[in-house]
Amino acid sequence: MLTQEEMKATELRAKAYLNEVSLKVEKYLDQHLPPQNERPEKLHECMRYSMFAGGKRLRPALAYAAFTALGGKDESIYFATSALEMLHTFSLIHDDLPCMDDDDYRRGRKTAHKVYGEAIAVLAGDALCIHAFELLSRTGNALAIGALAQSLGSYGMIGGQVVDIESEGKKVGLETVDYIHYHKTAALIQSSLVVGAHLAGASKEVVAEMSNYGKRIGLAFQIMDDILDIEQTTEQLGKDAGSDIARGKATYPSLLGVDESRARAWELYNQAMDCLKQIPCETSILADLAAFIITRVN
Ligand code: IPE
Ligand code: IPE
Ligand code: MG
Ligand code: MG
Ligand code: MG
Repeated sequence: MLTQEEMKATELRAKAYLNEVSLKVEKYLDQHLPPQNERPEKLHECMRYSMFAGGKRLRPALAYAAFTALGGKDESIYFATSALEMLHTFSLIHDDLPCMDDDDYRRGRKTAHKVYGEAIAVLAGDALCIHAFELLSRTGNALAIGALAQSLGSYGMIGGQVVDIESEGKKVGLETVDYIHYHKTAALIQSSLVVGAHLAGASKEVVAEMSNYGKRIGLAFQIMDDILDIEQTTEQLGKDAGSDIARGKATYPSLLGVDESRARAWELYNQAMDCLKQIPCETSILADLAAFIITRVN
């Protein structure tokens, strides 16, 4: 466990880094998304509405941090950072739909389907997903593209979303909650790091350690998301607070309580730090980002 002072310093460094990377990521995102005055205008407008609504840009920052820590220098990383944020946003648009979590707020504004209707929201999510892979193909890196695709399909994010929905209102065990959290959230966080490592040309061993680190912080991230859903307000989160209890979601706090869930997140943080120690590069920013993940308030 870090001291209060160390924690504060870590938080400041991570926030400054997220701001710095966001500036670059936003510029490329704008270039990589279709202009909203091009046909079909409504769809392009919805894609941009959801993308530029003030997300934390955590997945791009993790990919960028892994890439630069491992010596990556060229501009190819920006295809990946744009693609990761598009894929994440696609998952959020669909996650909020009435047939899924049925939420009204996201990133501080009305959800996409509330503003554009369900059909456009579904299609905007689809288009973001497909556009992302077109961008990624421009890196020419089959390992990166394959890792990302796997983390999103039926063995990844989509698989997790299915079990999340199927488990609503049921009493499920820890093994199922682990399955849901790993697949719906941690897998994409993990693959963000793997993509950054592949684009930097890292060895198999280093990619594997990045992947282990990513899995741990990804799980910790979703545990904190569940805790924040209970402890924070809708204003603070920019999305509907209390949504999990209202829908009877299978979460760590519902199974273990908030304190034990938080302890589990710290345990995962410590494991993630051990993974970083195995990587023979300067990885302090990845350590800061991990700490940010479990101390964040939104
Ligand atoms: C929210 O992700 C959805 C989950 C996977 C839990 P973030 O908390 O990263 O959302 P944004 O991108 O900052 O809006
Ligand atoms: C979302 O999990 C995971 C994905 C979007 C894939 P949640 O349903 O807990 O995310 P929030 O709380 O709505 O952001
Ligand atoms: Mg959900
Ligand atoms: Mg949700
Ligand atoms: Mg949540």
